[in-house]
Amino acid sequence: MSRLIIVSNRVAPISEGGPAAGGLAVGVYDALKETGGMWFGWSGDVLSSGQPHMQVVERGPVTFATIGLVRRDYDQYYRGFSNATLWPAFHYRPDLIQYDRHDFEGYCRVNAWLAQQLVPLLQADDVIWVHDYHLIPFAEALRAAGVKNRIGFFLHIPFPAAQVLLSVPPHRELVKALCSFDLLGFQTQRDLRAFSDYIVSEAGGEVEPGLAPAPATVRAFGRTLRAAAYPIGVYPDEVAQLAKAGTRGKPVRTMKATLHDRKLIMSVDRLDYSKGLVERFRAFERLLDRSPACRNQVSFVQIAPPTRADMHAYQDIRLRLEAESGRINGRFAELDWTPIRYIHRQYERSVLAALFRQSHVGYVTPLRDGMNLVAKEYVSAQDPDDPGVLVLSCFAGAAEELSGALIVNPIDIDGMADALGEALAMPLAERRARYRDMIAQLRENNVSVWRDNFMRDLRAAGEKRRTAK
Ligand code: G6P
Repeated sequence: MSRLIIVSNRVAPISEGGPAAGGLAVGVYDALKETGGMWFGWSGDVLSSGQPHMQVVERGPVTFATIGLVRRDYDQYYRGFSNATLWPAFHYRPDLIQYDRHDFEGYCRVNAWLAQQLVPLLQADDVIWVHDYHLIPFAEALRAAGVKNRIGFFLHIPFPAAQVLLSVPPHRELVKALCSFDLLGFQTQRDLRAFSDYIVSEAGGEVEPGLAPAPATVRAFGRTLRAAAYPIGVYPDEVAQLAKAGTRGKPVRTMKATLHDRKLIMSVDRLDYSKGLVERFRAFERLLDRSPACRNQVSFVQIAPPTRADMHAYQDIRLRLEAESGRINGRFAELDWTPIRYIHRQYERSVLAALFRQSHVGYVTPLRDGMNLVAKEYVSAQDPDDPGVLVLSCFAGAAEELSGALIVNPIDIDGMADALGEALAMPLAERRARYRDMIAQLRENNVSVWRDNFMRDLRAAGEKRRTAK
């Protein structure tokens, strides 16, 4: 079978046994081990002087090839166009979009440069799978360098409605560049519809739906490609194992001891404005306001590791969140109880999974999210005999699949407070029924199903392109 080449902005941290992170990294690494291949991307280093050099690390059949970025490229490609323009636009925050045409030029330049770095490492029948919004022009750049291999793209974040995408000045160039891939994968049907709508209404192209499970056929900008939704999953049984093992660890035992039989509401998110953290804190406050019986009986733990901390919008959300948690705790805290434990740091996956298992409510309420694997890991980590309840935003991709969750609109503070109250009081039989429904879905569509479906369609899509020539 042909080799697989994964290209993503970040390459999972490499340890002896493979990537240390979960979800996507593990799923993709398994595929790489099977066929042999390479994972290529940014090393995470920013060079203040000198030229970047490729670092190549071999781990059995898998090669990890990473390269640093010079400061200007980091500023224009990563901080600038990827994270100050595309990220807010694709998360439905046109108010936060910053645009500088030099950043867009830098974004295209870095994509072309990364593509040039990859070309000498490619073999004729390699299958190339590119990930996420940093690398939209990557296939166009490879094609310009004469690469004829099959190239697929998976977007991990939402694809915005056409009207929102129009606020990104080079929207047409971006969508045209996407059409250089052989296969486009989106997280949900909603994202696929948004993309199709742009193709038809703004690009004058056409989209012919495929007979499920076949992907749709897209014709636009003189190109023909395939597109479909592939909701990313987790390995639920592996998460459950981690959760059980982590329960015996010190962090979780300490945490339990400080709870004193209070009920626990758990949230874990990167500290990003798309995650709806301020609204979430206010809904918890509303619950305490309306239900005095919950005071000193419920603790809410928000773990929010730092992310993109050198960007203004992220410094701003951090200040707002810290102000909110301080204000709410000041209002309700008692000598022996802090209502919100807001923790601005990263924990190991096993600790998080164990905390999920200990908790009564998983509180996952992003304003927009491509999928949200925390929601899936929360459900996976539960004890089947005594499961917690998932409160989930209707704007997380996961809401298309997890119908056993209490689905909320994160703008509706009262609605979220109602859902928290309902979750905390839910009888065991109903919790079990909801859990069974969701865990069955997660097992059926685990991360290897996601990966295998995408790879199957990419191999087929590339064949069609070749024979059409
Ligand atoms: C999201 C994106 C990923 C990204 C991650 C962390 O999940 O879809 O592509 O790697 O955020 O963000 P960072 O900017 O630190 O890579």
